[in-house]
Amino acid sequence: MRKFHPLNVARLENETADSVRVALQVPDDIAHEFEFLPGQHLPVQTTLDGKIVRRTYSISSVPGQMPLEIGVRVQPGGKFSEFVANELKVGDALEVMPPFGQFHASVAADNQKTYLAFAAGSGITPILSIVRSTLENEAESHFLLFYGNRRQRTTMFIDDLYALKNRFAERLQLYFLFSQEEQEFPIFSGRIDQEKVAELYTAFCVGLEPDEAFICGPDTMIEGVRSALSDLGMPDDALHAERFGAAKKKGMPPAVVASGDEHDCAVTVIMDGHKRTFGMVAGDNIVDGAAAQGIELPFSCKGGVCATCRTHVRDGEVRMDTNYGLEPWEVEKGYVLACQSHPLGSTLTLDYDKT
Ligand code: FES
Repeated sequence: MRKFHPLNVARLENETADSVRVALQVPDDIAHEFEFLPGQHLPVQTTLDGKIVRRTYSISSVPGQMPLEIGVRVQPGGKFSEFVANELKVGDALEVMPPFGQFHASVAADNQKTYLAFAAGSGITPILSIVRSTLENEAESHFLLFYGNRRQRTTMFIDDLYALKNRFAERLQLYFLFSQEEQEFPIFSGRIDQEKVAELYTAFCVGLEPDEAFICGPDTMIEGVRSALSDLGMPDDALHAERFGAAKKKGMPPAVVASGDEHDCAVTVIMDGHKRTFGMVAGDNIVDGAAAQGIELPFSCKGGVCATCRTHVRDGEVRMDTNYGLEPWEVEKGYVLACQSHPLGSTLTLDYDKT
């Protein structure tokens, strides 16, 4: 199982007025644990006022680049992000779990593909890594990146993107959209939604036959982009999406105790080759049920998004409230998000060692 490691802050830079770029030094002896694919993310935690505060951030740097970089958008009232903006210093240590996640590019030198990317706000963080890794390693591939923000001054990684455009002028098409600043061409004004994607596709992508699309932003943006690209003929398995935030789908029932959830369940977890069994009420999710018995299982967002809590059901059944973090094939193979899962029977065995 992945564990948290202390990583020292090597560099801190204000990216925009409301975002910070944090560079983390990975010691040589654990560098292999922090190898990653472009697009993946990692949980980061620290202790504030005696409590552990944990968040998940995408990596903006590319594989092999050290120190490893993340981008943190500072949310007003956000405990962790305000700590990063106001208190964290170079040389301090943050607890960081090795990278993971199914949202990533599979870069291969002999690929000759046309890729699309749609990013909104801090959703650019994994996309930057994907675009840069692809262009640096696939000499025959092309990328079209559409990046939406409210205003230019809050646009993260804008200098990195212009530098990439200069390096790969022939193979990167870069388009910025702003929702709160009037643009000379109306197509670049407004949010990235279903209608806008159809308009952008007609203007810039017709005849290109894109192979894959990477989408990162809030829930509604992702659904709009997916619908538009599906309508335009891109197959579902060519669309890769990563959500930030944990908005619930319209019509999704709230995570309440369902009928029959009051029963007790004996849950066995297999982790690092060891077995532990604890009792819980099935109305709780498994992460909270374990915590109530003093057992800490991995988690970060607790919103069904980051998949830090991913585990495999070896025996028994669960009901999952929300799933934004697992691919359909993972669910079919019996993987679940423990933070969203409730036991359905009286016994359940979860295997955290199965990858
Ligand atoms: S902790 Fe993030 S999906 Fe469960």
